[in-house]
Amino acid sequence: MCGIVGYIGNKEKKEVMLSGLRELEYRGYDSAGISVLSSDVLSTFKTTGKLINLENKCKDFKSSGFGVAIGHTRWATHGKATEINAHPHFGETSSVVHNGIIENFLEIKTKLESEGKIFLSQTDTEVIIHLFEENLNICSNYLEAFKNTINSLIGSYAILLITKSAPDKIFYAKNGSPLLVGASKDEIYFASSSTPLIGLIDRVCYLEDGDIGVMDIDSFNDLTNIQPMSGEKMSSQKDGYRYFMEKEIYEQHKILQDTIRGRILDNNVNLELPDDFVNGVNRILICACGTSYNAGLSAKYLFEREAKIKTDVVIASEFRYAEPIMEKDSLFIVISQSGETADTLEALKLANKNNLKTLAICNVDNSSIVREAKYSLLTRAGIEKGVASTKAFSSQVMLLWILGIYISQRKNLISKTQIKAQIASIKSSLEAVKVNSYIHDKLKKLSKRYLHGHGFFFIGRDIFYPLALEGALKLKEISYLHAEGYPGGEMKHGPIALADSELFCVSLMPKHLLYDKIKNNTQELSARDATICIVAQEYNDVADDIVLIDKFDSYMEEFFAMMIVLQLLALEIAIRLGNDVDMPRNLAKSVTVE
Ligand code: F6R
Repeated sequence: MCGIVGYIGNKEKKEVMLSGLRELEYRGYDSAGISVLSSDVLSTFKTTGKLINLENKCKDFKSSGFGVAIGHTRWATHGKATEINAHPHFGETSSVVHNGIIENFLEIKTKLESEGKIFLSQTDTEVIIHLFEENLNICSNYLEAFKNTINSLIGSYAILLITKSAPDKIFYAKNGSPLLVGASKDEIYFASSSTPLIGLIDRVCYLEDGDIGVMDIDSFNDLTNIQPMSGEKMSSQKDGYRYFMEKEIYEQHKILQDTIRGRILDNNVNLELPDDFVNGVNRILICACGTSYNAGLSAKYLFEREAKIKTDVVIASEFRYAEPIMEKDSLFIVISQSGETADTLEALKLANKNNLKTLAICNVDNSSIVREAKYSLLTRAGIEKGVASTKAFSSQVMLLWILGIYISQRKNLISKTQIKAQIASIKSSLEAVKVNSYIHDKLKKLSKRYLHGHGFFFIGRDIFYPLALEGALKLKEISYLHAEGYPGGEMKHGPIALADSELFCVSLMPKHLLYDKIKNNTQELSARDATICIVAQEYNDVADDIVLIDKFDSYMEEFFAMMIVLQLLALEIAIRLGNDVDMPRNLAKSVTVE
C-alpha cells in the first residue's frame, strides 16, 4: 500500500528518494512521485506505473548541496491511478505526501473551493496542502500553520510536508498510519516502514499517534523514545529464483527452523512469555485478515483438537464494527505479517480498551501491532517481498501450533506423551516444507492444463479447509483466476451446482485425517464431471490428476507438504499466464487503510 520517504541532508536527494521508494516497491502501488527542495527551488515529478517511469521522468534533474525531499508510492483510494492524483500534491510554495484517508476532505474541499481555491486532483490529500498554505497567511509562524492544518483533519494519516517558507525542514504528523524518523551523522530520514532505513541510520524513533512536529538537521535529539537501530541492508536478491515468491516458498524450510529456535525442547515447549501468562485464560479469540486469517483458522483446529482450548476466529474488518462481546477470560490474539494492517490494529485497540489480555503474532518487530499488543511473539520469517504471502503463513501456523501446546502444557490440559508426540510432529513438519524438485517439475507440467476453465474449487476438511482457503487465495491473487476454498462436506449444499468438466477441483486428501470423508466429497464432484486434481500420499481412482506428496506419519506434516504444493501450483499457473507474480495487480503488501 502507499509508502512514504523523506530526507534532510546533503546527498543527491533525487537518488535518496528513488532508492527509498524502491525498498517500498514490494508493498504494491500504482503511481509514484517525489518533491525536492534545494537552493530555494521546489521541483516535483510524478508518474503512473512502475518506478522506472519516475526514474526516466526525472533523469536529467539534479539537486546538489543541502536540501529536503519527500517521496511517495500511491495505492489509489480516492481517485484513479492517474499522474494528477499521484503524490506529492503541491500548492504555490509547498508540497505534501500522505498515507491514510482524510475522512472530512469533502467538507474542507468545498469550503476552500468556495473561497476560490482550484483543485487539480480527485484525492483527499490535496486539501492538506491548500489548507496549509491558507493557514500560512493567517498564522504567526509555519509550525502553528501546520498544527492548525492537522487539527482540522479527521481520519488516519502519516504526513510529510515541505515548504519554501522553511526550506531546511520537514513537517510531519502521524495518526493511525505508521511513520518513523531516523538519524545518522548529518542526515535525517523519514519512512512509513523500517525497510528503506535499514543500513542508513543508527537511531530511530517510531512516531506515536498524535505526534505533530517539524524536523531539521539538529532537532532529532529533541524527540523522546529514540532507539538504536542497526542492521545491514537485507539482501533483496532473488538468488537465482525467478520471483521473490518462489524464493520465499523455497526458504520455508530454513525459516521454520528460525521460528522454532529456542521454543521447542525435548519434552516441552517454551515461549518468550511471562510465567503467569495463561492465568485467567479459558478461551481464545483470534482476529486477522487474509492469509493471516487462514493461519488463525488453522490454529482453531489445532488449539481445540490438540491443545483442548476453546477458540473462535474472526475476520478483523468484521469484528471492529460488530459490537462484539468480549469475555474477560479470553486471550485475544491478532495475527499479522506486516504488523500494520489497519483493521487488525483497530480490532486490537478495541480488545485493549476492553482490558483483554492481548497477544500479537507478527513478523515485524516494532510494528504498530507489536507496539500496541500487551504481549507479542515474532514469527521470524524475515522480510517477505512477494505480495502473495507464503513463508509468513507457514511461520504463523507453526508459531500458533507451538503456542497451543504452550498454553495446554501450562494449564495441564494434555499429557506429557501427547506433548512429546506433537514435538516430534513439529520436527518432521520442517522436513515436509522442503521443496521436492520432482513435485515442482510435476506442477510446472500440470499447470498448463489448468489455465482455461471457468473456475477452481479447493476443498479440504478440518484443518485442510483453511489450507484450501489459502490455496484458493494464493491462486486468485497472482493468476487472477476465479478460485474458492470450501469445506469438502459443504459442496452438496450449493456449490456443486457449478460442477462440469470446465470446473477444476483441487482436493486435499490427507491420509491421516478424515480421508474417507474427503474422498466421498471428491467422488461426488467427479461424478458430475468436474476435473479433479488430488493432493495425497497415495494414488486413488477419483483423480484426473494427482500430485503425490512424500509419506508422513501424521496430518500436520501432510498439511505443510500440501501447503507447498498449493503455493507452487499458484506460482506456476501465474507464470504461465505471464503475470507479475511478485506485484500482482490491485494488491498491496501492507494494507494500512480499512
Ligand atoms: C495474501 C496476503 C494478504 C494478507 C492480509 C493481512 O497473500 O498477503 O491477504 O495476509 O492483507 O496482512 P497482514 O498479515 O500483514 O496483517
